[in-house]
Amino acid sequence: MSDFLELAAKRYSCRNFSDKPVERDKLEKCLEAARLAPSGCNAQPWKFVMVVDPKTLEEVAKTTQQLGLNEHTSKAKAILVILEDHAKLMPKVAPLLDSQVFAKGDLGGAALSFCLEAESLGLGTCMLGLFDRPKLSELLDLPLDQRYFLLVAVGYPAKERDEARSKPRKPFNEIARFV
Ligand SMILES: Cc1cc2nc3c(=O)[nH]c(=O)nc-3n(C[C@H](O)[C@H](O)[C@H](O)COP(=O)(O)O)c2cc1C
Repeated sequence: MSDFLELAAKRYSCRNFSDKPVERDKLEKCLEAARLAPSGCNAQPWKFVMVVDPKTLEEVAKTTQQLGLNEHTSKAKAILVILEDHAKLMPKVAPLLDSQVFAKGDLGGAALSFCLEAESLGLGTCMLGLFDRPKLSELLDLPLDQRYFLLVAVGYPAKERDEARSKPRKPFNEIARFV
């Protein structure tokens, strides 16, 4: 696929994964896309943990399952954990700004690059903001005060996206204008 807009429109939150295993080199390519994302002062305030070990994967999936939501994560073949790292800003701007002022935006860009690369490789992804942070820290041997951003469930889609289910988005005129 060569057209970026087509790729952006095609990506969707996949909540129905097949049993097909995901190749490690594809996961590495998705991580590489995330690594190449831009960041404020090029601080790259991220760390990525790719969970693929079946037992750990099952446990990590469970941390996302609350309030009857996110049952689909049990069928993911990998779950990416995106950690927010300390951002070292350029010495000139550091005294003016909080170190983490750009971090969430940086991490969002990296997460989307990851998902778009996955889409281009035929994989499905679902970003997950709902998860039990202390439990995840325990499972991954991370500090309790670890800053998390998002998890991303990955797998092959069980079926093609239902094209009839259009992407519900605010209309162009409501969100953008030229001046
Ligand atoms: C920060 C963030 C957190 C999200 N958390 C969840 C989640 O916990 N579970 C889920 O099924 N989808 C989650 N989503 C997916 C959104 O619901 C989805 O992106 C949105 O409805 C638009 O649909 P689309 O991704 O299919 O275009 C999350 C997305 C983002 C960006």
